[in-house]
Amino acid sequence: MPDTTYRVLMNGVTGRMGYRQHLLRSILAIRDEGGIPLPDGGRLQVEPVLLGRNAQKLERLAELHQIADWSTDLDAALADDAATIYFDALVTSERKKAILKAIAAGKHVFTEKPIAESVAEGQEVVDAAQRTELVNGVVHDKLFLPGLIKLKRLIDGGFFGRILSVRGEFGYWVFEGDYLPAQRPSWNYRTEDGGGMVLDMFSHWNYVLENLFGPVEAVTAKAVTHIAERWDEQGRRYDATADDAAYAIFELAGGIIAQVNSSWAVRVNRNELVEFQVDGTHGSAVAGLFGCRIQPRERTPMPVWNPDVPTTEDFRGQWAEVPDNQAFRNGFRAQWEQFLLDVHAGRAHPYDFAAGVRGLQLVDAGLRSSAEGRRIELPSRDHGVS
Ligand SMILES: NC(=O)c1ccc[n+]([C@@H]2O[C@H](COP(=O)([O-])OP(=O)(O)OC[C@H]3O[C@@H](n4cnc5c(N)ncnc54)[C@H](O)[C@@H]3O)[C@@H](O)[C@H]2O)c1
Repeated sequence: MPDTTYRVLMNGVTGRMGYRQHLLRSILAIRDEGGIPLPDGGRLQVEPVLLGRNAQKLERLAELHQIADWSTDLDAALADDAATIYFDALVTSERKKAILKAIAAGKHVFTEKPIAESVAEGQEVVDAAQRTELVNGVVHDKLFLPGLIKLKRLIDGGFFGRILSVRGEFGYWVFEGDYLPAQRPSWNYRTEDGGGMVLDMFSHWNYVLENLFGPVEAVTAKAVTHIAERWDEQGRRYDATADDAAYAIFELAGGIIAQVNSSWAVRVNRNELVEFQVDGTHGSAVAGLFGCRIQPRERTPMPVWNPDVPTTEDFRGQWAEVPDNQAFRNGFRAQWEQFLLDVHAGRAHPYDFAAGVRGLQLVDAGLRSSAEGRRIELPSRDHGVS
């Protein structure tokens, strides 16, 4: 069977996510392995076209990775009928208008999250896509993490009995930029540039929760800016206007309570940069990016509260690691492959723009909850656990 090649316009490839996860670890990895095998014996091959603002950087990347085409002219690139897919990893504030142009040009669209800066803007993107037959998708990378794949397997296998609660801890210390250079781009700490913890991470938490445990029905959150001044890439001081931490309680359909702390001003004292503890009547698990530890009820100790007696039990040692029984590939690549196969088959991608809007609804509700100091109910959303 002949190979089918998809020419993919990749915008924002000079950025952190665009370069490392999407270009290098996904599209180039697929290309360099000869494409994705198709059921008919052929292969789905990809041909990236690099887009951005800085010609020098694009030319250098193209040369480095043997990529034939690059351009600083989005409109001209979108006019290329041979390119059928547009990918967006721009800063969030630039995303909506670029995606709308891509849809108008008849391209299938895959994008980083969040799909826009507000629910209304996200809905505009959904509406534009729904007027076409084009396939649309938004990054749901956390679902493809080995730790969360193991967790989903435990849920599907009935390990937990009735799930009661989820406790998530996400975060690490992001340097301010004066003492040591910051390890994340400065726009993340300015609301006016599309930054903020709630906008960044509630977009993830929404799809993680709805795909593993059930849709979020209500949120109570407190978003704060712990570090009010930072230093940017050029060493200039700036006011950090965006929230850099958010402490939230999410009430899920079916009565599960999920509590998630997200912070760029916390020092890590856990095994991984994100961990979710799930407690159920028959067992508990702690899942991270890679690992997942379990404690079934048969192995649950019976601690007795007595502050006069020093702790003798090794509580952490009482958990067992779920083995790596399958080969896990990079999560971004795994979703790219699914998206490309969906485009090839002409079917909808399950993690679509509408899911992106549900993420933005949670962002909006979280920020309102924090600003108004109250619990906010979410509009009923038809997506359930699949
Ligand atoms: N899925 C994830 O886990 C994850 C993690 C981090 C970031 N993100 C998302 O990825 C996107 C990019 O984040 P990043 O950390 O790679 O940022 P980055 O600053 O490293 O990259 C941003 C890209 O946008 C381009 N850009 C900046 N301003 C622009 C403008 N005015 N016009 C056109 N292009 C512009 C830059 O040149 C660069 O290519 C964001 O939307 C962010 O929310 C996702």
